[in-house]
Amino acid sequence: MERIRIGPEQRLFVLTGAGVSAESGLKTFRDQDGLWEGSRVEDVATPEAWARDAARVWRFYSQRRREARKAEPNAAHRALADMEQALGERFFLCTQNVDDLHERAGSRRLVHMHGELFASRCEFSGAGMGAFACSRGPFQDDSLYETEAAIARCACGGRIRPHIVWFGEMPLKMNRIEREIAQSTTMLVVGTSGAVYPAANFVHWAGAHVRRIYIGPEEPGNADAFSEIVLGKAGEVLPGLVDVD
Ligand code: OAD
Repeated sequence: MERIRIGPEQRLFVLTGAGVSAESGLKTFRDQDGLWEGSRVEDVATPEAWARDAARVWRFYSQRRREARKAEPNAAHRALADMEQALGERFFLCTQNVDDLHERAGSRRLVHMHGELFASRCEFSGAGMGAFACSRGPFQDDSLYETEAAIARCACGGRIRPHIVWFGEMPLKMNRIEREIAQSTTMLVVGTSGAVYPAANFVHWAGAHVRRIYIGPEEPGNADAFSEIVLGKAGEVLPGLVDVD
């Protein structure tokens, strides 16, 4: 496709999903043989699943940690880091992914709205836990936990849980994300099926004047909201796509 020109007064907002890491060998969620085919969301990615069988939840995320450790950033991650280099503060990346491949490719102006695979926190930390609230924040952690007895404990007695936003929980950094979307003049959405909210709504939050481009091998569920759709793999389409003035 024609290159996307970002002029001196313009700002680029990028949203990525599991598809951007597919060429690094990490499974997406909803494609054939995706993670949600092998495991049920209700068993591994909800607060109820954690309450019922925390070891099962940890086995799922321990396996994700093993796979992400082995994976390397691909041409799509590198292309996005290059865009940030060229655009500086006029670039912002919001990822739904919990892997660290964007950082490892060099991205710095990014937020993980669904949490981070290599961080953990106390199950009682965060809002809404009443008298049991624990003030300890998320911390770096690449341990693997396979049994209930192996799950580390916080000083307050709570169990250590993955720093992942489960279904039914609030996505992170939404104020910052809304601010960045409001300022953007081009929105690039890469490798996400448009099935999970609020991320699937970002394209609607962008004003009508904003150029809204989707990149991925198939149309997302919210395809109608985009001004352009580029069918192709992220690692093939993104390098050299953006032209910075
Ligand atoms: P999905 O698995 O729903 O969608 C992945 C998308 O990537 C699909 O639309 C594919 O067409 C596309 N894709 C596959 N290979 C690609 C490639 N090489 N280049 C570009 N695109 C490619 O994953 P997400 O939309 O990211 O949340 O899922 C959103 C959220 O649902 C995840 O963050 C996760 C999940 O449940 C949590 O775990 C909180």
